Amino acid sequence: MTDPALEALVAEVQSSPKYRLIHPGLVRRIAAQELAKGRKAKETVKAVRNKLHQVGGAYQETPIDYAKLTSELADLPTRLDEPALQAFCGRTMQQHASTRERLPILEKIFNQALAPLAPVTSLLDLACGLNPLALPWMPLAADAPYYACDIYNDQMEFLNRFLAHLGRPGRAELCDLTAELPAQPVQVALLLKTIPCLEQVDKSIGTRLLEGIPAEHLLVSFPVASLGGRGKGMLENYEAHFIQLTAGRGWLIQRFEFSSELAFLVSREG
Ligand SMILES: C[S@@+](CC[C@H](N)C(=O)[O-])C[C@H]1O[C@@H](n2cnc3c(N)ncnc32)[C@H](O)[C@@H]1O
Repeated sequence: MTDPALEALVAEVQSSPKYRLIHPGLVRRIAAQELAKGRKAKETVKAVRNKLHQVGGAYQETPIDYAKLTSELADLPTRLDEPALQAFCGRTMQQHASTRERLPILEKIFNQALAPLAPVTSLLDLACGLNPLALPWMPLAADAPYYACDIYNDQMEFLNRFLAHLGRPGRAELCDLTAELPAQPVQVALLLKTIPCLEQVDKSIGTRLLEGIPAEHLLVSFPVASLGGRGKGMLENYEAHFIQLTAGRGWLIQRFEFSSELAFLVSREG
C-alpha cells in the first residue's frame, strides 16, 4: 500500500539532482525512518538529505565528472601494468575521500591482506565507491571476475565502462545493502570501511553482512581516522566492535594494521 506522505517526501528529496542518482530504495527507506519521527515536513526533508549525505555524499566533496573520466579512459591503454592507466586510476581515486585516504597504502594493503589467497579467483567489492580503480594493485588472477556495488547510478555506469575497458569479467550494480545482499558467490568479498557507514542507517547490518555475504573470505576494514582527520581511539573502538561482531563464530581471522586503515581477513570456509 502506498503512503501519500512518504511518496511526497521521496519526491521532494529527489527534486534536487544531487539525490536523484541514489538508489531509490535507500531514499525511500531513510525517508520512512525519518517520517516516523513526526517532525515538520521541511525538517523531515532536511533530515533525509542529511542522512543521505552522511552515508554517501560526504565522501564526494565535489561532484565527480563521470562523462569526462569516461572520455579520458577511452584513450588509455587497457593493461593494468601500464603507467598511464595506473596514473588515471590514482587521479580518479583522489575524487572519493575513502579511496583518497587509501592512496598512501595502496601498494601494500591488498598485496599484504590478500597474500594468503593470491591469486584471488573472484571478487565482490561491496559499497565499493571508487575502489575498483585499485584493481592494478590487487593480486587478482588475470581472468578473475570483479563484481562491485554501491548506491550511485552514475558511479556504477562508469565502473562498468572501466571494467569493459580492461576486458575484465564482472559488473558493477546498484545496491542497497541495508535492504538486500548480493547473491553472487565469490572467493573474496571486500567490505572496506563500510560497516560503520551502514550502521548509521541500520544498527544490525554488521552481523547480517558478515553472516550473509556468499564469500569464502571477507576482507573487512575500518577507518582509523574520521573524514576530518585522525580520530582519537577510533582504532581501538572499531577493533573492539569487530571482535564483538565476530565473537564465538569459529572463523579464522587475520589482522592487518595500516596507517589509515585497520583490516581483517575473515575466512569462513571449512
Ligand atoms: C566509507 S565509503 C567506503 C567506500 C569503499 N568501500 C572504500 O573503502 O573505498 C562507504 C560507501 O558506502 C556506500 N553506501 C552507503 N550506503 C550504502 C548502502 N545502503 N548500500 C550500498 N552502499 C552504500 C557509499 O556510497 C560509499 O561509497
